[in-house]
Amino acid sequence: MKILVTGGTGYIGSHTVVELQQQGFEVVIIDNLSNSQIGVIDAITSITGIKPHFEQFDLVNRELTSQFFSRHTDIMGVIHFAAFKAVGESVEKPLKYYRNNLVSLMNILESMSEFNIPNLVFSSSCTVYGQPDELPVSEKAPTKKAESPYGNTKQISEEIIQDTLKSSKMNAIALRYFNPIGAHESAKIGELPLGVPNNLVPFITQTAIGIRQQLSVFGDDYNTPDGTAVRDYIHVVDLAQAHVIAVKRMIELKMKQSFEIFNLGTGTGLSVLDVITSFERVSGEKLNYKIVGRRAGDIEQVWANSDFSNEVLGWKAKKTVDEMTASAWKWEKVYREIV
Ligand code: UFG
Repeated sequence: MKILVTGGTGYIGSHTVVELQQQGFEVVIIDNLSNSQIGVIDAITSITGIKPHFEQFDLVNRELTSQFFSRHTDIMGVIHFAAFKAVGESVEKPLKYYRNNLVSLMNILESMSEFNIPNLVFSSSCTVYGQPDELPVSEKAPTKKAESPYGNTKQISEEIIQDTLKSSKMNAIALRYFNPIGAHESAKIGELPLGVPNNLVPFITQTAIGIRQQLSVFGDDYNTPDGTAVRDYIHVVDLAQAHVIAVKRMIELKMKQSFEIFNLGTGTGLSVLDVITSFERVSGEKLNYKIVGRRAGDIEQVWANSDFSNEVLGWKAKKTVDEMTASAWKWEKVYREIV
């Protein structure tokens, strides 16, 4: 069974390709390598023993997208990761984000419709909830006006998909990720941010290894137990496994309606200091950090109610925060070749 993974050389994409291959799926990857490296294909091959078919082009190009699908009419499902994801950059360059994230989605949906490809899994985000009124936040919570153009592309994408489904025979599952961190246990694939990392865990590991001088902790005056902001960190392999389950659910015709939404989180909120403490515990390193002011656009706290995913998908995040930070640290060390 052939599955197309767009953005399959990226962070979550590459981990999902591994899980799909290990469950017997044939995987085709499209990636323009704008934020990932071709070496990831070899890394995937070395983990699974199977080289995924890879095509490098930009899904914003409608012609190339349509030509691709005309050559692969036997695709059973598409997992669409390919998108820009830097919140801050999206504020600076909104049109870059709207064009890339929305046009590529529309091109894919048009081709799926043209070539009768029935199933789409879409990478969404808990950012659609903004600062929820109730915690933990469930899928039933209202979406809030997006804080950034990036977040808005996720909201609009869910709407584009829903509208498209109304006039087609397609099915879609939107997976709303909380904060994916960590790396594959082999340390052959992991998160590879270009330049200065925006996200917490790559910044922690790069600081510990000496590439960054000091981690800035953005704010300790939030209304949380230790004053630092709270998120639901989830191991990227747990997240990847949920995609395989979602794909199977579609292929096995188990969906209850044509569009389903699932939260992917652990259900536990951790503060920035909790993550730092875990990192220090598993690595034995003392992290150089200092408390600075809040980061613009950050919400105070969010964590998932994952009951619906647990019950309906039969999926549950298994890995602990120490497994997450330990795997991120191992990956950083292996990648920098000092182990
Ligand atoms: N943080 C720091 N210092 C840093 C980086 C982050 O203190 O150097 C803090 C942030 O202020 C925040 C927490 O660590 O409180 C997590 O920050 P991340 O940047 O790792 O993650 P975010 O929660 O801001 O963003 C993530 C994804 C987005 C997604 C969003 C949804 O990166 O793509 O979750 O909430 F939209």
